[in-house]
Amino acid sequence: MKTDKMNAHSIRVLFDEKTIAARISEISQEMAGADLDDLLVIPILKGSFVFAADLLRAMHRAGLVLEVDFLSLSSYRAATISSGQVEIVRDVESDVSGRSVVLVDDILESGRTLAFAKDLMAARGAKTVSTCVLLNKPGKLATELAADFVGFECPDLFVVGYGMDMAHSFRELPYVGVVENP
Ligand code: IMP
Ligand code: MG
Repeated sequence: MKTDKMNAHSIRVLFDEKTIAARISEISQEMAGADLDDLLVIPILKGSFVFAADLLRAMHRAGLVLEVDFLSLSSYRAATISSGQVEIVRDVESDVSGRSVVLVDDILESGRTLAFAKDLMAARGAKTVSTCVLLNKPGKLATELAADFVGFECPDLFVVGYGMDMAHSFRELPYVGVVENP
């Protein structure tokens, strides 16, 4: 298995580029089969930006017509332990009322981030709010939330890369991996 040396860190690859691309193509086919009219896709920043960039283009290839807006939420605050509190760092500009909203995030862990965003969009009158995550981390759910579209089941490890960070590092890695010596 591939291991990258990033300065003093060794990163063990969990999901490589090809595997991620293939799964994203499958997810977008699933989405194309769902009833998503007047579709607004909302990536939750920052962690989802790489996943969203690939997913949006795959959705286009799958025939979906959509708009994109961004919601920036914060719960981790440059640490690997969640504070449990979710804050809006930057809100969407779009009116979501009556629309099919798909929220995109990197990881579903406690579910607090997505539950917060889902409640927010529902309270604003979205017709439907679906959720799509690249990774589903088992065992830590603090809410009832199950994502509608899931890339992969993720082992209970702190993962980085493909947009996900550890204290702002590693977002640029083209794969998802685990820091072996954090
Ligand atoms: P939740 O609110 O507990 O579901 O946490 C979701 C957010 O926590 C994700 O959007 C990530 O930004 C962050 N997160 C959770 N686990 C990891 C991880 O292993 N690596 C990087 N970020 C993570
Ligand atoms: Mg995040």
